[in-house]
Amino acid sequence: MAKSNKQYICQSCGSVYQKWIGKCEQCNEWNTLLEEKNIKPSGILSKSNGQTISFEYLKKEAYDHSRITSNLSEVDRVIGGGFVPGSVTLIGGDPGIGKSTLLLQLVGNLSKLKEECIYISGEESLSQIKMRADRLGLKDNNIQFASVTNASDIAATISSIGKRHILVIDSIQTMYLPQLDSSPGTVSQVRASTHELIIAAKKTNSILILIGHVTKDGSIAGPRVLEHMVDTVLYFDGDNNLQYRILRSIKNRFGPTNEIGVFEMLRDGLKEIKNPSALFLSDRQKNVSGTAIFAGLEGTRPILVEVQALVTPSTLASPRRTIVGWDISRLSMLCAVLEARCKIHLSNMDIFLNIAGGIRIFEPAADLAVAASIISSVKNVPLSFSGVFFGEVGLSGEIRKVTQPEVRIKEALKLGFNEIYLPNKQKTIIQKNLNYNSINLLNDLVNLINKDVMNDLS
Ligand code: TYD
Ligand code: MG
Repeated sequence: MAKSNKQYICQSCGSVYQKWIGKCEQCNEWNTLLEEKNIKPSGILSKSNGQTISFEYLKKEAYDHSRITSNLSEVDRVIGGGFVPGSVTLIGGDPGIGKSTLLLQLVGNLSKLKEECIYISGEESLSQIKMRADRLGLKDNNIQFASVTNASDIAATISSIGKRHILVIDSIQTMYLPQLDSSPGTVSQVRASTHELIIAAKKTNSILILIGHVTKDGSIAGPRVLEHMVDTVLYFDGDNNLQYRILRSIKNRFGPTNEIGVFEMLRDGLKEIKNPSALFLSDRQKNVSGTAIFAGLEGTRPILVEVQALVTPSTLASPRRTIVGWDISRLSMLCAVLEARCKIHLSNMDIFLNIAGGIRIFEPAADLAVAASIISSVKNVPLSFSGVFFGEVGLSGEIRKVTQPEVRIKEALKLGFNEIYLPNKQKTIIQKNLNYNSINLLNDLVNLINKDVMNDLS
């Protein structure tokens, strides 16, 4: 029997099935299977007879290691000090967060540095791009624009340029290969178009930057495979209602993955924020319970953020745990430790937790600050206005050491904080006017806060 060339691909996880089923067995999503023809795109696996390949030695002089910096230092830092020639970067983010704006500004900068820049949009017409470029003040630039969606044509054109350039594709979900039957945005189209573009870009040692849409759960739309195909994956994140935007790297073959870049969206484009701590703390109120300052680290850069907690009696059978900017399972763990080790009863309380400024925190070192804000809210005691917290909380209530305490303390000092709540044996800087509160167990912190409140309670 002739083998059918039809197949069904899950649009959520990329699993392939020979028959249609309602629920993907891999990712358990319903109704995500789409029929796609099983045609191998040209350029990939299309030849059945292999040819011999030649090998090379990794001689130093044969490769150009120099990175291309864009003068947008927030972007350069996130990608590890500039773009590596021949690399492919994928940048994802919610609609309207500012991906197109960021990349237009980026190529605007690079074109001033005499790099050849091409910006291809499948989403906007040339007049729309021009309006944005005018708004960003990119009048006399040398960027070449096109509004096309055929990835074959783009690949053929950029191969024919024959020299290094910077190519932005906005967005990869709008690109298609005419050889494939399925519509743009499907798994096979996204995967095949990306392959064609990568092959063409690598030939000329060019820098390829792809914009990707994200799905409602926050992953880059289409397949995870896209993230495997590229060298660097960046997310452009932030609260749509706030002006701040954070660029974060999720995968980076040429640099660290924990650096962030902070921007502010203004009327005339994105402005870099060189000192994010000052920005995140700018709206702080005095004498309010439930807020604690966390001295955090994002990559090599220290950041102070305000953790806000509100704990109120609940009328619900299962009390609310609402959280913005932190991890819900980490909060559950912390509540369990506070209940079990410190006798702070939270099981009939609603807890609202917010990291002010729209930033998201992933470090376990934030535990102590979160615990402090919860205790402060429960007891209705404002914490010291010049205090910062860092430390990881273990299940037995012990406070564990964190990395690079000196960097955190220095940043706190720089911003006028001189009361440091930290794990035992992490005092690194000794200086006049600098007060340390070493915390061994979470209960010690509760006692410290109790002490402050004695007057209030009596
Ligand atoms: P955009 O870059 O189109 O977002 P994306 O490509 O991620 O969908 O940004 C759109 C939003 O940014 C839009 O709501 C308007 C706002 N914006 C500014 O506030 N200032 C600007 O200078 C520009 C160009 C956009
Ligand atoms: Mg866009």
